[in-house]
Amino acid sequence: MDVFRITIAAFDKSGVGRNLQPHAWMTAGNVTAVAGDFVGVNNYGFGGLDGHRGFLLSVAEWQAMNYLANMSEAASRSKSAMTSNAIEISGLRKIYRGSKGEPEKEALKGIDLNIPQGSVFGLLGPNGAGKSTLINILAGLVLKSEGKVKIWGFDQDENPRMSRASIGVMPQELNLDPFFTPRGALEVQAGLYGVAAKDRDSDGILKMIGLEDKAEAYARTLSGGMRRRLLLGKALVHHPHILVLDEPTAGVDIELRQMLWENVRKLNRQGMTIILTTHYLEEAEEMCDEIAIINHGEVVARDTTANLLGSLDAKTMVIQPSVPPETLPDAAGITVEKRAGGAIALGYNSKTTTAEQVLQAVHAAGISISDVKTEQADLEDVFLDLTRSR
Ligand SMILES: Nc1ncnc2c1ncn2[C@@H]1O[C@H](COP(=O)(O)OP(=O)(O)OP(=O)(O)O)[C@@H](O)[C@H]1O
Ligand SMILES: [Mg+2]
Repeated sequence: MDVFRITIAAFDKSGVGRNLQPHAWMTAGNVTAVAGDFVGVNNYGFGGLDGHRGFLLSVAEWQAMNYLANMSEAASRSKSAMTSNAIEISGLRKIYRGSKGEPEKEALKGIDLNIPQGSVFGLLGPNGAGKSTLINILAGLVLKSEGKVKIWGFDQDENPRMSRASIGVMPQELNLDPFFTPRGALEVQAGLYGVAAKDRDSDGILKMIGLEDKAEAYARTLSGGMRRRLLLGKALVHHPHILVLDEPTAGVDIELRQMLWENVRKLNRQGMTIILTTHYLEEAEEMCDEIAIINHGEVVARDTTANLLGSLDAKTMVIQPSVPPETLPDAAGITVEKRAGGAIALGYNSKTTTAEQVLQAVHAAGISISDVKTEQADLEDVFLDLTRSR
């Protein structure tokens, strides 16, 4: 076995995988092997790269590393005990233990969530809602406190190897090793997942993420956006069934953002299930078939994008009078607000008031209309409605 193809990481006291630069807080009891960047070095005589420190692993941990390293691509692509869900989560809780006198934090408060196969699924929520915690649990980078997680039909606890092989995660935080080139990082990642040389497609991935001309540059010399793209490339090396993107477009320029979405759509058309978080709600509206909104560690909404958008009954009709009106419309169930340029915005609830009734109120006030438009709720309205001041 080639130890240089193995990544070692550790879980710290709060259960977060740290895969760079092991430190003194690691003990034999909390060291384990997970997918990441750090090329393994230990005190059993296996060497490492410059700049990395060695640390001790127990036999069980060494076996855990073997387990990961021996995963074959065939295994990663094999059929599962599949239902139609790519991910099944039930009763998922995460409590981060407080350190240095900080109180503990319940980041996930019992999440139940199924994500259908083949979908583009959006996970939305304000800062600190628990999105990354959820994603990092799926990735095996954060240890859950309670609950069940099935990935591609494999229970994360009962079959960690297969569940991990089924998913590729582009994390929110940059965790690239500065000493690797993009090609090197992809090759190491492929090795970690046991992808045979003939099945690797580093060049294809470099092309897809627009880093062909940077293939041999050290990661530390890449721009922020290029590093994020490399993280995407790394998530794809083992041809996972499920691709998870934690804020893929944060800090990525417009052209690359479009390229990224084109690629994501293409992967989805080829059958890959996509899960993504983004703070750009128009992106989510455009990209996602289904959306879950998380707030304070709980799922507060989960539906198809179309249903979520239709769930707000508040509508606004904006009319432009042909001459400035003497009186404003006045009818039950209709709010009236003057807008810039003489326009009048009429708010109504489509469940109780029809557009026809709104127009009648306008005519009853003796107003003739030169222009009219309606404003629909967008995802931002839905999002704010569900997450504001709660
Ligand atoms: N390692 C940690 N130790 C303690 N608390 C943590 C840790 N990581 C996250 N938290 C807390 O858990 C909560 C959820 O954080 P998380 O990173 O999952 O949010 P998020 O939804 O991804 O937010 P953002 O949109 O800002 O990325 C926050 O209150 C955060 O402070
Ligand atoms: Mg996050």
